[in-house]
Amino acid sequence: MKRFSCGALRAANDGTGAELCGWVHRRRDHGGLIFIDLRDRDGITQIVFDPQHAAFSDAEHLRSEDVLRVRGRVRKRPAGTENTRLATGDVELAVEELEILNRSQVPPFQVNLEENPEESLRLEYRYLDLRRPRMQRNLTIRHRIIKAMRDFFDEREFIEIETPMLIKGTPEGARDYLVPSRLYPGTFYALPQSPQLLKQICMIAGFGRYMQIARCMRDEDLRSDRQPEFTQLDVEMSFCSQEEVLDVMESCMRFVWKRVLSLELAPFPRMAFADAMERFGTDKPDVRFGLELARVGDLFASTEFAVFKSVLESGGEVVGVRYPGGAALSRREFDALVDDAKQSGAKGMVWVALGADGVKSSAQRFIGEAQADPIAQRLRAERGDALLLFADERDAVFTVAGKMRSEIARRCGLRRDDDFAFCWVTDFPYLEIDAETGKPVPAHHPFTAPMEGEWDLIERDPLRMRAQHYDMVLNGYELGSGSIRIHKPELQRRIFEMLGMSREQVEEQFGFFVRALDYGAPPHGGMALGIDRIAMIACGEENLHEVIAFPKTQTARDLMMDAPAPASEKQLRDLHLLPSQRSQRG
Ligand code: AMO
Repeated sequence: MKRFSCGALRAANDGTGAELCGWVHRRRDHGGLIFIDLRDRDGITQIVFDPQHAAFSDAEHLRSEDVLRVRGRVRKRPAGTENTRLATGDVELAVEELEILNRSQVPPFQVNLEENPEESLRLEYRYLDLRRPRMQRNLTIRHRIIKAMRDFFDEREFIEIETPMLIKGTPEGARDYLVPSRLYPGTFYALPQSPQLLKQICMIAGFGRYMQIARCMRDEDLRSDRQPEFTQLDVEMSFCSQEEVLDVMESCMRFVWKRVLSLELAPFPRMAFADAMERFGTDKPDVRFGLELARVGDLFASTEFAVFKSVLESGGEVVGVRYPGGAALSRREFDALVDDAKQSGAKGMVWVALGADGVKSSAQRFIGEAQADPIAQRLRAERGDALLLFADERDAVFTVAGKMRSEIARRCGLRRDDDFAFCWVTDFPYLEIDAETGKPVPAHHPFTAPMEGEWDLIERDPLRMRAQHYDMVLNGYELGSGSIRIHKPELQRRIFEMLGMSREQVEEQFGFFVRALDYGAPPHGGMALGIDRIAMIACGEENLHEVIAFPKTQTARDLMMDAPAPASEKQLRDLHLLPSQRSQRG
């Protein structure tokens, strides 16, 4: 008898014999018959036990998640009982033979629900969570995305080169995970934060076009879009311009979206970092919707409104954003919005409601009909909308207004997860100020080339220097970063020097790399895209947990394996992390 998957049978199979294997998804006893939804990765098929068959008495004891093999005859469901939500919903299998392959304990949560069970239970019993159709679907999409990427690059003569896991640290701005060496007491391997230096060395080694589905490890604070272990589509090319890298990466995403989601993507809009900050208040703009920010400080040049006046006098700015339909909000709702804005870092927020019956504002004495008009025009607002205004120092005010732009879009239902709006952000500053230390650090990494023609700023004004660095952004998430790299050893040494590294430090950390640049490094550049984030957005999910088979919690634990875990004394001694017994005795 032919074996079918649980998603395969259709009306055309009516009358044929079939064998199915799978898990008990749901059981219903009805009108003297027992109905079971049998599930495997491919789908669900209804199987029916009739009291006339010997299998019926065993079926009475079946419970959720028991594992079965059944044989029987496919038949059309009686008219009116078809299930249009199932691909197999026109048929059922009338069971003649039942083999119970294994029993299941009562699961700690119901595997057959679409909603996510409690998070810690899901992660502890991940094998049950992964049985849920939603997770099976997500991991299948992830597989298809990776397969499409490999096919895309293979067709363009890139080769996949595996780089090692036990290396010397590659800095990407996070802490390293370290692995103590047994053979060399007191020394450590670092797990790669990315294959950055190794892929550059592949270019120096003459491979020309490299790609890798690369595992990366970073010991950093976690968020819903960050895991300590994640996967990159890592790419590097020799003798290429920035334009060529952008073209190849954009084409790859277009290929993946077409192949996996059957969607055609429009060309990705591009904007310089400074424009992104000005228009969206972030370098990760969500361009699924407009609601662009606008400076309105000049419209308040002669205002008596003390808050705006003092900010403008001290060189700050007033920035506005439109709230479509916002005029309908009550005073109390506006108050709640002000609280939201403060949570997002605003010092305060002025609202202006462009009601049909006139303008109302939280600064009514200073912003009436006459003042509201030009602001509304600049923000392209209409009657019925509200205007939200923020005043602060120049950098801070755009960031806050940008966060509120995103919140307004959420409230207005403009952030649809079946909408995919990609864009490029280019022309980043080379340096940024590290929030913890207050010192300048590379916005990308120290192997990024400065913008052509701006090298002299290294000595004169490094904070004004821009980088040949670009980011790909999708729906407000940074999908990936890349750059044209430094290939001249003397420039690489100057950059390390600018970052405050001594000759000895450079030699100790990156001596091998700068030496490699000394032996004929070709001009090169590349990029890495976060595959977990891509899969998350493609699946319409909001947490990386939904697209990674065995993720860590927000506090970097694996709840299923219970890792990290203590090591035995013997292991610690072997690794020289405890004094050896001999030396202890001595
Ligand atoms: P970057 O550090 O920007 O660049 O990383 C590239 C992309 O990897 C993803 N990513 C992460 N995903 C999940 N969890 C994390 N903790 C995490 N960290 C990063 C993001 C990010 O945009 N070597 C450079 C690339 C290059 O220059 O070629 C690099 O790693 O989607």
